[in-house]
Amino acid sequence: MRIFSGIQPSGIPTLGNYLGAIRNWAALQDGNDCIYCVVDLHAITVFQDPAALRQQTREMAAVLLACGIDPEKHIVFLQSAVRAHAQLAWIFNCVARLGWLNRMTQFKDKAGKDRENASAGLYVYPNLMAADIHAYHATAVPVGDDQRQHLELANDIAQKFNHDYGVEFFPRIEPYIMGPAARVMSLRDGSKKMSKSDPSEQSRINLNDDADTIALKIRRAKTDPEPLPSEPDGLADRPEARNLVGIYAALTDGDAASVLREHGGKGFGAFKEALAALLVDHLAPIADETRRLLADPDHIDAVLGRGAARAAAIADPIVAEAERLVGFVRV
Ligand code: AMP
Ligand code: TRP
Repeated sequence: MRIFSGIQPSGIPTLGNYLGAIRNWAALQDGNDCIYCVVDLHAITVFQDPAALRQQTREMAAVLLACGIDPEKHIVFLQSAVRAHAQLAWIFNCVARLGWLNRMTQFKDKAGKDRENASAGLYVYPNLMAADIHAYHATAVPVGDDQRQHLELANDIAQKFNHDYGVEFFPRIEPYIMGPAARVMSLRDGSKKMSKSDPSEQSRINLNDDADTIALKIRRAKTDPEPLPSEPDGLADRPEARNLVGIYAALTDGDAASVLREHGGKGFGAFKEALAALLVDHLAPIADETRRLLADPDHIDAVLGRGAARAAAIADPIVAEAERLVGFVRV
């Protein structure tokens, strides 16, 4: 099975990125052929300071390696280094319908009230994402729950392309939305997802936070005054409690029921202490390894360079064939 996924270098990766995506990417390596991409073309749909983008791009690559992704067995690379992505995205811009894009909730969230001032790139973002996947004929895409709608659109685009050109060229893709933390919420507001770009530092755990910072953020995380319930049903109207239990479940490879068997009836003070300790155990080795890798940026660049060459060797012929199907003359 060929697996593809991407992550934007638009900030420091969060616990949401880790539990919703990166950890699953690492777990899927056994027995599959995986292609993992730092999507810098997507990042600039919202303005990025060039120096910060360069730094964050190498940091993101280092985090992927630190989380155990093997760039020799699999492929790790930068989206902007493989031209096939932008080339196929243009074709998909001409396949996708405005009506489809108008339904995308991520665009509405990111554009906010000032829609007129959003970039055109932000609007066609899902077409580029569809191109990322289809340029490799990938069939399985591990992502967090927030990307479900984009993957449905990627299937609609493939289906319309195949139909319009009378071919069976792009395969159907399956979303892999895995584990009890496929949607990690903000620590300050249980109705908002945890995000790299949230203005509040307190809303998220960053993968490079030190032990004291993690403990403080968890201690300050919003909760309600009730003790933890003993059954998952008791979390129904308690989004903040549900979020912390979901994170704990993901880190212990359990589910809400197993966490509540252990902690049901306890107040949040004790539970938060246990959760912070678990987080530090998981994240400290990743932060250490990321720091070690970042001390040698030439090594990171070399890994990414090899990854791009191998990615292009797969994507270029597929996109060339798509261009031929569309009717472009090649001389
Ligand atoms: P992004 O940071 O938007 O580039 O997202 C990269 C990956 O992390 C995608 O697969 C997202 O679905 C996933 N992700 C981002 N935020 C969260 C979150 N709060 N909970 C779970 N998964 C997330
Ligand atoms: N849009 C995804 C996100 O913000 C990132 C992404 C870009 C992606 N291209 C992709 C994810 C292709 C999976 C497959 O989370």
